[in-house]
Order: sequence, then structure tokens, then C-alpha cells
Amino acid sequence: DRRITVRDLAAAKQRGERWPMLTAYDALTARIFDEAGIPVLLVGDSAANVVYGYDSTVPITVEELLPLTAAVSRGTARALVVADLPFGSYQSSPHQAMTNATRFLKEAGAHAVKLEGGTRVAEQVAQLTSSGIPVMGHLGLTPQSVNVLGYRVQGRGEAGAQLRADAQALVEAGVFALVLECVPSELARELTAELSVPTVGIGAGNGTDAQVLVWQDMAGLTQGAPAFVKQYADLGGVLGKAATDFAAEVVEGSFPDEQHSYA
Ligand code: KIV
Ligand code: NA
Repeated sequence: DRRITVRDLAAAKQRGERWPMLTAYDALTARIFDEAGIPVLLVGDSAANVVYGYDSTVPITVEELLPLTAAVSRGTARALVVADLPFGSYQSSPHQAMTNATRFLKEAGAHAVKLEGGTRVAEQVAQLTSSGIPVMGHLGLTPQSVNVLGYRVQGRGEAGAQLRADAQALVEAGVFALVLECVPSELARELTAELSVPTVGIGAGNGTDAQVLVWQDMAGLTQGAPAFVKQYADLGGVLGKAATDFAAEVVEGSFPDEQHSYA
């Protein structure tokens, strides 16, 4: 199969087809998700939390995200790979956004980038899209702005009008899709009907064109995942048991047995 493109995602919206997106940060899991048919993989700056152990996405750098993106690109044959532009790598100017986004495509094999914010980054989005770099937008709870917004639902009441204006500005600037994080389900449903590009919900109800989750959250590896996360597996439990079983067998001397040794 050939790679999924942003044109395929536009066509899916026309046909009214929903699609899934997952994060990925390494080649091994990226291959599993690619073979499971996940059409879009996001190398999220959530790597700050789930890979690097920071307590927010603010500290992660381009240099830390590039190798993870390269690994995901190498691990996939079919998925569209989207790389998050980290905090501080695009806000200053369209030129800065261009310089850093280019690195994710040229050095790491990403097919698109994602950045946070609306009207305030519209010039950056226009610069990238007009230069041939597909851009995914991200509105609502934007974790890179945690120091201003905190982690809570966005776009309630009056704030809905601003979010709507930001979404329109991003579409006009050329985004191929828009993540809506932690916004009221009704607002997400309305935006999905109004906008010409696919919406990707996370904590935004089931009225969006697509859904995304951080893979370690949906697979049960993280602790204290947000309420909107559904756990599709208990990998944390499985992996913990594997480690304690291995440890016990080493201590008692039953591993390795003959079957796992060379004569
Ligand atoms: O970094 C990330 O994982 C994200 C998704 C949750 C949308 O931005
Ligand atoms: Na992100």
C-alpha cells in the first residue's frame, strides 16, 4: 500500500468517514500501529511526558523530538507521520516556523507538522502551507500554554466564539486538519459541520471526524490519565508482571532453563 496523504484525509471527510490517530515515539510501536491500519501517527510533544519524564510539554526541544520522529518514519510504510513543533520553535516568526518545520521533513522524514494556537500563528501556518508543508492545527486545551491556561476545558460559553474564529483563521491559512482538545462536545460537533477540513477530537466528544489518544494512555501504561481516556489494554499490568516474574526466576535460579541455553 502507498502512504496515506492529506488528500486522502480530505476525501474521507467528503465521504463522511471517521478515522483514528495515535501518537508514536519509536519504530517498534509505530510499526505495530501502522500494521493495525492507523492512518495517521503523531509524534506528539507529549513525548515530553511519556518518553522524557518532564512534567509538561514546555521543556521539550526540536533536538529531542527529531530522533523520535525519524524512528517513527522508519518504522512505518503506510501511515502519514505528523511531527509536533515544540514550544518556542515557531511562535517568533514565520521564518522560525519554516526553519524548524523543514528540519522535521528533511532530517526526520515527517510528512506534516502540528502546532498549537489560532489567529496568533496564522501567518506561520500560511508560510508553511504555501511552502509545501502540510500543517495540522491544535485548539482548545493547548498544553504548551499550560502556564497561562492550566489544564482545563476550553471554549465554554463566550470563549466558544473565539475558538470558532481561531478555527476559521487556521482553515484560511491552509491547515489540512484541526485537533480539538478538551472542548465541549457540542462545540466540536458544530465546528466539524462548519469547517472544510477534518477535525480530530481528544476529550471533545464523538462528533468529530477523527479521534486521537496518546498511545500509552489508551494502552494502560500511564497513571492518572485524564477522564476522557478509554483504556483498551492493561499493558502496565502485563509489563509489570513480566518484570516481576523474570526477577523471581532469576533470583530462584529457574531462568534460564535448558530450553533457553546453548548446549
Ligand atoms: O502531543 C500530543 O500527544 C498531542 C495530541 C494529544 C493531540 O498533541
Ligand atoms: Na502535542
